[in-house]
Amino acid sequence: MSLAEKLGQLTMTTAGSAVTGPTLTGPIVTGPIDPTSTGDSTESIRAGTVGSMLNLIGAEHVREMQRVAVEESRLGIPLLFGFDVVHGYRTIFPIPLGEAASFEPDLWALTAREAAKEAAAAGLAMTFAPMLDIARDPRWGRSAEGPGEDPWIGMRMADAKVRGFQGDDLAAPIALAAVAKHYCAYGAATAGRDYASADISERTLREVYLPPFAAAVAAGVSAVMPAFNDLAGIPMTAHAALIKGWLRRRLGFDGVIVSDYNAVAELIRHGIAADLAQAAALALNAGVDIDMMGGAYRHGLPIALDRGWVASVDIDEAVRRVLTLKWKLGLFDDPYRRGADPESSEALAVRRRLARAAAARSLVLLKNEMNALPLPSGARVALIGPLADAPRDMRGPWAAAGGTDPDVTVLAGLEAALGEGKVLHAPGVDIAGENLAGVARALELCAQAHAIVLCLGESESMSGEAASRAHPHLPGRQRQLAESVFERARALRKPVIVLVFSGRPLIVPWLIERADAVIAAWFPGSEAGNGIADVLTGRVSPSGRTPVTWARNLGQVPIFYAARPTGRPAAPNDHYTSKYLDSPSDPLFPFGHGLTYGRFVLSNLRLSKETLLESETLTVRVDVANQGPRTAEETVFLFTHDKLASVARPVLELKGFGKIKLDPGRSGTVTLPLAGADLRFLGLDLEPIFEPGEVEVLIGPCADRSKLLAATVHLAPAPRP
Ligand code: NOJ
Repeated sequence: MSLAEKLGQLTMTTAGSAVTGPTLTGPIVTGPIDPTSTGDSTESIRAGTVGSMLNLIGAEHVREMQRVAVEESRLGIPLLFGFDVVHGYRTIFPIPLGEAASFEPDLWALTAREAAKEAAAAGLAMTFAPMLDIARDPRWGRSAEGPGEDPWIGMRMADAKVRGFQGDDLAAPIALAAVAKHYCAYGAATAGRDYASADISERTLREVYLPPFAAAVAAGVSAVMPAFNDLAGIPMTAHAALIKGWLRRRLGFDGVIVSDYNAVAELIRHGIAADLAQAAALALNAGVDIDMMGGAYRHGLPIALDRGWVASVDIDEAVRRVLTLKWKLGLFDDPYRRGADPESSEALAVRRRLARAAAARSLVLLKNEMNALPLPSGARVALIGPLADAPRDMRGPWAAAGGTDPDVTVLAGLEAALGEGKVLHAPGVDIAGENLAGVARALELCAQAHAIVLCLGESESMSGEAASRAHPHLPGRQRQLAESVFERARALRKPVIVLVFSGRPLIVPWLIERADAVIAAWFPGSEAGNGIADVLTGRVSPSGRTPVTWARNLGQVPIFYAARPTGRPAAPNDHYTSKYLDSPSDPLFPFGHGLTYGRFVLSNLRLSKETLLESETLTVRVDVANQGPRTAEETVFLFTHDKLASVARPVLELKGFGKIKLDPGRSGTVTLPLAGADLRFLGLDLEPIFEPGEVEVLIGPCADRSKLLAATVHLAPAPRP
């Protein structure tokens, strides 16, 4: 291979305005990108100076590009086609934060599997997913794309998604190579502002932000994408200690590292590289194999080589990793194996049904008073708000090629479920506009209905990349609309049910206070309206739980359940304790909160052993009874608390969760394993230790300690041989 051909394998570009077909415009151009990478790439492919592409849509276009690479380039190396299949390709599932709310790893894997099949049928071989950034600041718009605030959930999601996308055999025509992103601490962006610097302790990095990536590596993830941000002054794209050190040497990861979009070239703007050659050298030497869209490798590495900043063996190593991935994907056997056969309509229908179930399972019933939900049968509903009939917004950010098939709006879903003439609809206001002229019509409808369903929230473009919000509440004039509706509804004595669509926990305490029922709907995807109608009508009992703590106000942010204890715990009558003068410190809703249509009582927590060795597994059991009038599914969380340790441990740490579905009047048992190895923590030297002593085992419906049952297990040192 010539140097140019090697660097081609390390270069990922878009087809731009390629003559061969359309590409997704955007989604983002994050700075000064290589001008040669936005135009028609056909010539570069023929010349062998491009090895992979992103954002090309349509099997026939992918095939044509592949044909040029395989038949017209000197070496005939197949291209690798990547895309952001984050929560679906054409059929869109709930945004990852919404899917996280289902607390169902099997579902997470299944939707990834279906997304992989659909994307692979369009010729793609790689997805830039899963996104594994722990996010504890609702201002950060990318909270929408990830697992929420908790590393344990992040680990489970990493495992499920990697298995789902990749399957057992990466060479299968339905498998995609997964890319764990964004490595790492991207979610810790200062003040929740996207791309901003992250500066966190080494302990927090290792305890909170790294574990999901370790889980992705353990699950066999094909690639990892460094984040745009710097961590304490070192941009992740040049972070040798974390890429070569932790990922490669410590975890033994031998897959591909693919940069984020233009991130290699952006090392110049970060202020650690003077030019493209230095940027390229820093990234390559840190372990980055593929330069996405920066053009830094193909323009800068030849100069860096001349200057002696990089070694050709390191270029060869990077090329070897890229070719190995292509080989594992089966591309050398048959470069056209993906996208060869269109999918059957039956396959699409099955996927739509899964999308509907996933939508319903992602909904979190935050509040339900006066039996506002489920809707009584035969109810006529006034459906009000700018998100009631908003197909594009139902998909949320990163909707890939979604929209090919119709998206079911709340209006369409409720009309189908309730029947003709049962849904009276008025948007009232726009999502972000100033015009209040539509409010009068919306208020008129209230009198004609049994219940009012208000659809409020963000548009899909208000979360995701470059969508941080300093004011994460209802945009535009939605508050005025809601307050007018509440007033009218009170006069009419009609219940108001609010659906909040958002990519983050919106800070809307006034709304939650005044509504009779509130559902956090996130962005439910292509089947939004049907999934929502299933829950509103009671066909499905809501079972989602919030994977993020809901703040009362922005002053409480960052707020998360796994806080460390303080020497001065809050006490109402003691001034010098940890609290605010002007706000409660507890959240509006704790992590894990979510109501169902059942009424569950937990009892009889029991542990299989009193003493646990590091090598053993404890079995934790709890009885659950449904004392409510309806069949419903309860989620049970298993937390631990190490009360006395060499390093202060968080007040609660999630170690497991389980679900149980019970008919009215029935009870059952939830059984959860707790491995001794999972009770290790990072000691004073930041190495894992298993410290003998007592650990509280707590089980219950959410991270509110007053609702948890507790028992104690003794951790014992390994017996002497
Ligand atoms: C930038 C985003 O940060 C990343 O998540 C995405 O995969 C790439 N662009 C490619 O679209």
